[in-house]
Amino acid sequence: MTTIGFIGAGHVGQSLAKAAIANGYDVVLSNNQDPDSLADVVKQLGPHASAATAAEAAERADFAVVAIPITTIDQVPVEPLASKVVIATINYFPDRLGHIAEIDDGTTTAPGLLQAHLPKSKVVRAFSMIDAADMSEDGHPQGDPKRRALALAGDDPDAKKLVANLYDQLGFDALDLGDLDESWRVDAGQKAFVTHQNLEELKANVANARRK
Ligand SMILES: NC(=O)c1ccc[n+]([C@@H]2O[C@H](COP(=O)([O-])OP(=O)(O)OC[C@H]3O[C@@H](n4cnc5c(N)ncnc54)[C@H](OP(=O)(O)O)[C@@H]3O)[C@@H](O)[C@H]2O)c1
Repeated sequence: MTTIGFIGAGHVGQSLAKAAIANGYDVVLSNNQDPDSLADVVKQLGPHASAATAAEAAERADFAVVAIPITTIDQVPVEPLASKVVIATINYFPDRLGHIAEIDDGTTTAPGLLQAHLPKSKVVRAFSMIDAADMSEDGHPQGDPKRRALALAGDDPDAKKLVANLYDQLGFDALDLGDLDESWRVDAGQKAFVTHQNLEELKANVANARRK
């Protein structure tokens, strides 16, 4: 059984955990409090879910999902995630959480900040451009006209294959944007952000993206 470690167990963490369990994964959830605070969530998710500290969740993870506010990236455990694939769902909302100069000037991206914090991990931006609830409620099998496409971006080809496979398992087509530097194309405010789009529509939307 493959275990996904979650750093962050809010809207995104809980919805993705539900979808992952439905597709045969075990999940270990963590938040910024004592693991006991997640007892009700774990109970609802069932026997394939457990709660731990962030360090333990990272340790037990075959791969990880980091679904936290951008302002807490520097608290993500580093060593237990070394060499592992780390999915970054993090978005940048400067009006809510404050400006970050390196993102504003285009030097880096939201997932780029996480990659810089986790230099030995393989960070892939994914699930950042879909509403949390839809992650577990709006997946559809291949060929279904309702099937949506989601983008991914990262610097490691094998890590991106893992994420493309996860997208497929959860009922989404995958579009590889290229390396992490290209991930701004699905930022908040871009056409592809939270839009219901199939693969062709997503390709067109990211091709027409303009850096702000
Ligand atoms: N909501 C959406 O529809 C959506 C969709 C796509 C992407 N995103 C992005 O995904 C990220 C998560 O969004 P969300 O809506 O799930 O946020 P949320 O509901 O506010 O949940 C955030 C989670 O992160 C945890 N956390 C904060 N600091 C932490 C730390 N240092 N270590 C471990 N866990 C920590 C929080 O724990 P506590 O409760 O203990 O503070 C909470 O469980 C954000 O960057 C957001 O922009 C959101």
